[in-house]
Amino acid sequence: MKIIKAKDYNDMSRKAANIISAQVLMKPNCVLGLATGSTPIGTYAQLVEWYGKGDLDFSEVTTVNLDEYKGLTKDNDQSYYYFMNHHLFSKVNVNPARTFLPDGTEPDSAKACCDYNKIIADVGGIDLQLLGLGHNGHIGFNEPGDTFEAETHCVDLTESTIKANQRFFASIEEVPRQAYTMGIKTIMQAKKVLVVVSGADKAAIVKEAFFGAITPKVQASILQMHRDVIIVADEAALSELE
Ligand code: F6R
Repeated sequence: MKIIKAKDYNDMSRKAANIISAQVLMKPNCVLGLATGSTPIGTYAQLVEWYGKGDLDFSEVTTVNLDEYKGLTKDNDQSYYYFMNHHLFSKVNVNPARTFLPDGTEPDSAKACCDYNKIIADVGGIDLQLLGLGHNGHIGFNEPGDTFEAETHCVDLTESTIKANQRFFASIEEVPRQAYTMGIKTIMQAKKVLVVVSGADKAAIVKEAFFGAITPKVQASILQMHRDVIIVADEAALSELE
C-alpha cells in the first residue's frame, strides 16, 4: 500500500489524475474502473483539462463504473450514468459504447447483476480501479456487514449512506433505497487500485480502514490485502495518522 500525501483537495485531484493519465498513456486500450461521489469530481475535471490540451486520448479506453442506483434512468440527474456523462464522458473522446455502468432500469436484480458481471469479464477485467471512501468504510455500495460480497449484487443502502446522499436529492424520500454495486472480489481483482480521500471528516475512517483490522465491518479494510493500492489523500484526511 502506497500513500501519497497531497496538500489539499486540488493537489489530491491533480495527483490522482496524473496516475490515471499514466495508465491511459501506457495502455491506451485499458479498462478504467470509475467511481462517482464528490471526491473524484476534481480528478475528472483535471483529466478533462488535459484532454482539452491534447495531452490525453480516451478513444480506445473502456470504462466500467462501480455502481448505479436501482430504479433511476440514465437521464435522471441523480443517476450515476448522468454524473459520469456530465463530469467526464461527454467532455472527452471516450467511445460511449465502451462506457459501462450497472443497468439501474433493470428491475430484475439477479439479471442486472449477472449482466454486469458478464460485461466486466468480457472486457477482460479492470486495469485501474478508482475508489472513493465512504464514512463507514464502504467502497462502491459495499456496506458494512458480516461478509465480503464477491461480485455485482443488489444492496439495501444503510441509513448513514441514505443520509449522506440526501444532499443530492430534493428530499430524503427521493433517495433510492437500493443500488447495484460491483463486489469486493471484482474490485480486488483490478490490477491497480487508486483510492482518493479528502477532508478531516474522513481522517478517522482512513486510519481504521487502512491501519485497523481487516473486517467486512469496514469493507475498505480488505484493500490492505491488495498487491497494488495507491491512496492519494490530502493532509486533512491523513491527520489522524502518526
Ligand atoms: C461512488 C461510490 C461511493 C463513494 C463514497 C464516497 O461510486 O461508490 O462508494 O465513493 O460514498 O463518496 P464521496 O466521494 O462523496 O465522499
